[in-house]
Amino acid sequence: MMIRIPKVLTPEQVARCRAVMDQAGWVDGRTTAGAQAVNVKKNLQLPDGGPEARELGDMVRGALERSALFMSAVLPRRILPPMFNRYDAGMTFGSHVDNAIRLVRTTGDQMRTDVSTTLFLSEPDEYDGGELVVEDTYGAHKVKLPAGDAIVYPATSLHHVTPITRGSRVASFFWTQSLIRDAGQRTMLFDMDMAIMRLNQDHPGHVSAVQLTGVYHNLLRQWAEV
Ligand code: NI
Repeated sequence: MMIRIPKVLTPEQVARCRAVMDQAGWVDGRTTAGAQAVNVKKNLQLPDGGPEARELGDMVRGALERSALFMSAVLPRRILPPMFNRYDAGMTFGSHVDNAIRLVRTTGDQMRTDVSTTLFLSEPDEYDGGELVVEDTYGAHKVKLPAGDAIVYPATSLHHVTPITRGSRVASFFWTQSLIRDAGQRTMLFDMDMAIMRLNQDHPGHVSAVQLTGVYHNLLRQWAEV
């Protein structure tokens, strides 16, 4: 399941990200890639753990934690500190699956990557190419969103970023370990949460909303890893 989270960052927050990124020193993106991905990855990143990545990462994380849609879709248990990348003309990231386990630099803990997130920080008209393409059983999905919008997708999926042919594309990307490991179960809980919200809107005070909310929490209780 791929879910678009609109307006995670305000235009002012996007502008702050861009100003910090314009002044920052960038490093080769291969430093954080796994053994297979390293051969197909050609981009730049803000140094992981550097002052720029920390400031912007805290901003992105705070914004996502205030997003009801992100929280419902991802049910986060642990969010890896967000990272930031840049693709200039000719840069690309070929087909790969993200590493299953990552080290949380700030705590030294390992975490499982269940959900991948890309938050776009360039406007679509600033660059050509640079689509995020996610493959699932329904085919390949091309994603290119306005600055400030994010897409979440299962970390289990093959994906790539098409080559940039004009301009530059900057984005934030990171992984989340979900309370719900299984993507199918996560999707069912998300669908149910959305249906309960609509029921509450369309029929305020309906007795079935209480019962369905109970079922939602009892499924969460059965499936969640905490
Ligand atoms: Ni990836």
